Parts: sequence; C-alpha cells; structure tokens
Amino acid sequence: MAEEIEEAEVELEARLEDQETFEPPESFVEQANVTDESIYEEFEEEWPQCWEQAADLLEWDEPYDTVLEDEEAPFYEWFTGGELNASYNCLDRHVEDGAKNRAAIKWEGELGETRTYTYGDLLNEVEAFAAALRDLGVEEDDVVTLYMPMIPELPIAMLACARIGAPHSVVFAGFSAEALATRMNSADSEYLVTCDGYYRRGDALNHKEKTDKGLRQVDHDVTSIVVDRLGDELTHFLGENAYDYDDLVTEHEGASVEPVSRDAEDMLFLMYTSGTTGKPKGVKHTTGGYLSYATWTSHAVLDIEPEDTYWCSADIGWITGHSYIVYGPLALGTTTVMYEGTPDYPERDRFWEIVENHRVDIFYTAPTAIRAFMKWGAEYPERHDLSSLRLLGTVGEPINPRAWKWYYKYIGNEECPIVDTWWQTETGGMMVTTLPGVCTMKPGSAGPPLPGVDARIVDAAGEEVEPGEAGYLTVQKPWPGMLRTLYDNDERFISEYWQEYSDEDADEWVYFPEDGAKIDGDGYVTVLGRVDDVINVSGHRLGTMEVESAIVGVSGVAEAAVVGGDHDLKGEAVYAYVILEDGQEPTDAMRERIVDGVVDAIGPIARPEEVVFTPELPKTRSGKIMRRLLEDIASGNELGNTSTLRNPEIVDEIAQRVGDD
Ligand code: WTA
Repeated sequence: MAEEIEEAEVELEARLEDQETFEPPESFVEQANVTDESIYEEFEEEWPQCWEQAADLLEWDEPYDTVLEDEEAPFYEWFTGGELNASYNCLDRHVEDGAKNRAAIKWEGELGETRTYTYGDLLNEVEAFAAALRDLGVEEDDVVTLYMPMIPELPIAMLACARIGAPHSVVFAGFSAEALATRMNSADSEYLVTCDGYYRRGDALNHKEKTDKGLRQVDHDVTSIVVDRLGDELTHFLGENAYDYDDLVTEHEGASVEPVSRDAEDMLFLMYTSGTTGKPKGVKHTTGGYLSYATWTSHAVLDIEPEDTYWCSADIGWITGHSYIVYGPLALGTTTVMYEGTPDYPERDRFWEIVENHRVDIFYTAPTAIRAFMKWGAEYPERHDLSSLRLLGTVGEPINPRAWKWYYKYIGNEECPIVDTWWQTETGGMMVTTLPGVCTMKPGSAGPPLPGVDARIVDAAGEEVEPGEAGYLTVQKPWPGMLRTLYDNDERFISEYWQEYSDEDADEWVYFPEDGAKIDGDGYVTVLGRVDDVINVSGHRLGTMEVESAIVGVSGVAEAAVVGGDHDLKGEAVYAYVILEDGQEPTDAMRERIVDGVVDAIGPIARPEEVVFTPELPKTRSGKIMRRLLEDIASGNELGNTSTLRNPEIVDEIAQRVGDD
C-alpha cells in the first residue's frame, strides 16, 4: 500500500504544479444557501448536536431522542427514537405546501421524447405503485430489487418501496444477468422490478432477456414487474409470476397509501458495491441518518433551492444517483432532470442541449465525462446558451486541474463555482468538498472536509501526517450518512472499514475509506486514489478480484491478474494478464472468450482494455503477485526495481507483449 501512495504522489506533483486558486463569484455568494464560514467552527464545537441542522430539513413523524448513540461503536446509530418516511419527505410534504404543480422530475429519453412529473403526479403514481407492491405481497422490510435504466419508473419504484417500508436494492442496468442474480441471492430478494428494454445510441437494447437469464440463476421464487419502455419496438412476453407495470398502476389508480413510519435506523436501501474481495458488499443505508445527510449536503454543497432545475448526469444505479438525483433533490422539493442516454447521441452537444432546453441551474457530473467533452472540443458547448448555470459539480474520481479549468471556462463561463466532491457509496453523501459560497477553490484538490466531518490523513501507524505528506484518508468521527453495516455481515463491516485505537480516555474507532490523500496547509484534501485492489473505470468502482474470478472461470485459463492502467478518457482501464493452461493456445478466439466471460459475469463496464497472455506473472520470493509492476506496465510507466522478484526476467517479456496484439 505504501508503494501505491508513493506512486500517486508523483502524479500529484504534476497535478498541482502551478497551483492556482479561484474565488467564488460574488453573484453566487449573494444568493448561496451557506455563506458564513463560522459554520466550520460551529459544527466542531457543537458536534454531534450540529447534525440536528440536517435532521431539521426533514419532517419527522416522531421526534428523535438522541442525535448520536455510540454505545455499540462502530455500530453507531443516529437520531434514535425518531420516526419518519422518506417518500413522505420527498413528496407529500411538498404537495401539502402547495407545490403540487411544480415539476419534480423532468425526464428526457434518448430519442428526444420528454416526460414531466409534477410533485402531484409523482405522488399519485408512487401511491398507485406502492398499493400494487403491497397487493403482490411485499411487506415491510422485504428487499425489492430494481433493475432498471434511467426511466422515471425507477425513482417511482424507489419511492413506492420507501413508502411501504420495503428497502430497495437497485442494480445498475448495465450489470450482467449474473451480477443481478448474485445480488438477489445475497439479499434474499423475492421481488424484482425491471423493464423490457431501453435505448443506447439509438438502438433498442433487450433488457428483459438479460433479466430472465439472471432470474434463472436466482435460487428462490421471484415475483417480477416489467415496465414496458419500448412498446412496439420490442415485444416481450411477461412469463410466469410477472406483471405489467402499467396494468398494475392503472388497476391501483387513485389508491391512497399511508406512508409507513419508519424508525430512523430502519434500512432505506441496500446498495451493492465492489471491494477488495470477489463478492460485492451490500452497503446498508438508513432512513433517518442517510436521508438527513443526503438532504443537508444537497442544500449546503449543491446549493439546491426548490425553484431550481437541477441536473445530475449520473445513473441512479450508483450511489450518486440515489443521493443526488432522487433523495436529496426531491427532499428539498426541487426539479430534478433525468436523462436516459449517452452524452454523444445523437450528437456531442446533447448535454448542452439539455442544459439549454431545461434552463438547468446546477449541473453535477463526473471527471470522465469532462475529459470526453474536452477531447471533443469547446465547439459543442459553444453552440448553446448555458447562461442558466449557477453551480457545477464533479464526483467519482480525482479531476486534474486542466479538466477543472476547462469545465470552469467552457461550461461555467467563469461564473460558476465548481464543487469537487469526494465521497463513497459507504458514506451516503459528500464528505470532502468546498462549500461553494464560502471557500476558495483549488483545482485538483477536493477541498476541506465538510463542517462536522472529521477527515484526517494518517500514516500506517495511524498518526496524522504533516501537511504535504501523503497518507491514508480516514474519518475519525461518525456522520449521519454513514453505512450502518454490510448486509448480513457485521464482521466484514468492521474488518473492511474500521480500526480501533485505544488510549487512556477512550476507545476510538476510525473509518478507513481505502483512499490515499494529502492535506495542505489550509486543510485542503487532495485525494490520490484507491489504496486497495479496487480500480476506478470512468468513475465506476470495480474490484480486481471480481474481474479475476470471472477470467479464471473461463475454461482453459489457469491464472489471472487484473490491474488498472492509466487511460485518457476512463481514468483507469482494466488490464488483464492471463496464464493459460498447458496446451491452450493464446489465440484471438481465446481472448474473445475471456472478454465475453468478464462481460457476462459483471457487465460491459468491466470489459478489459487489453488481455495480455503471459507464461508467468511477476512474483515476489514469497509468491505474491507484484501488482504495482503490472500497473506500471499497463500505464506505460518506467519500471521500478525488480530485484526482489523471483522471476525478474518475465517483466520485460510482459512489457513487450502489452500493446503488441
Ligand atoms: C473515488 C462514488 C477523488 C474514491 C460517489 C472513492 C473520488 C471512490 C472522488 C468511491 C473525488 C469519489 N476525488 N476521488 N471527488 N469522488 N472518488 O463508491 O476513490 O462509487 O473511494 O462512490 O471513488 O466510489 P463510489
């Protein structure tokens, strides 16, 4: 791990060369939700009571007794005794406040069709679907899996689940059949909402076929509901134990479903994410803490106001979409834009066309998208009037200063602050970023930890490092949006994330996100990247072990090592080094089978950039694969010391093979 950090440090030097700073524009500060820098001190002094400010953004059916319960640390509990319903907070209360006719979701399909749901419409459909789910037998605490692309029925299903107290588990639609089955089996989920298909670059994709294949691998009975997205474009058969979404909604039209009062600590949803080991982890988020935190950060960092039109271009299949397309924005009663497709369809100005057409005020995207926009050139944003924009955000991976400045200039017209937000599936919401109405911006550095977030950089012994030195990012105090555990696996929750330090006064639990970072003299954190075996492909987390086990599952493969190599657009790309069984030929057909094996097991996002056949992997004398060398080879870096290897000669041979094929 230390080596990982060292290497990242070199990259960083390049990144922060000629550090420039930018002040938030006056026009932004004048109207910002948070403008007083004393908030940092106030949250520190009043911690954990400060988090009442987050809880106060919600309506509670039953007030909470205690802000933070730490008896069973690290199984912290937030807002204990409180009761609330997430769907009530995202819908009913706005309708009651007179916002029935305000747009809640503005959706654009890839082919240009649009749908607008007002808060009133959304509430009606959520109630109808919630009634249908109940009729089908869904009870409180049953996990409902949602395997859908970016169509309005996805947030509707999420909110319908939340309404009746059934946690949802959204599986990214780009994941494979096998990935769906693994998640459904792991969560014992007996209900599934899916769709017939959707559009990608103008083509109708068959999603139902993939779903059915997945369902055949689920080891219990499943009741499914199918949204008809494609109509005549793709006919589908419902099959056994399956229902049509529209039929159900029509049948239950006008139903009134009381939102169930959930305990603050009751699970709102599960979200599977990749870790170091092969099996994805089911991250558990709660109703009170998570929703308060997503809403608070949407207010303080994204500066969302009810009258805004806000657009986050992530997919709801990932945590960013959960917190910052659905829960945070809707809890604040704003208009959230949803786009089904890709940024370059039908043309490379699609995003800017959406910003112009909807007069988007706030735009939140990923560095991988910005790198693509840069490559395509300024002519595309220049075709459109982007003057409605007030704030820009990024998430998912480090953004280099060049991309930051491009975003600032060509999208924000040097008039919008940028928030570079560091956080994770596990943190539920943003943790390290500037407050846009308060802080100076430093391109390349995410910013200081948010008020009330105790993020520090430590060395291997857990001691804080000096400013400028690289170390491990840690969070030393709990926060409301934190994951509570891993589904059905408390032990793994502790071993993956927490370390206990004892001194005379108390035992302290420290959270390790598995990222390397640096802090500067002003307390700004620069995130260097993962220090575990997780790679970040276009802002999507992939476990190298998951990919390796998919490859080893292909017949004829003996061993595989997967690493991330630098990639201009994706940030990192998957490189697979593969040893074949004796007698197997390293043919293109074999390579294809390996790639297909990965796509089948995980999905196209995990598709290896290169499959390199090799007779051996570089190993230390104790038999450990030297991943760092493989990463250097993949990234085209100079190769470091190989003298500690048992088989140093293999390194050059592998390096020769990369890019040869
Ligand atoms: C990385 C996405 C640098 C980081 C919300 C983290 C970032 C992982 C940033 C979580 C950022 C996310 N700067 N790195 N602004 N945001 N990361 O769970 O490595 O999909 O641990 O959550 O993405 O990915 P996840």
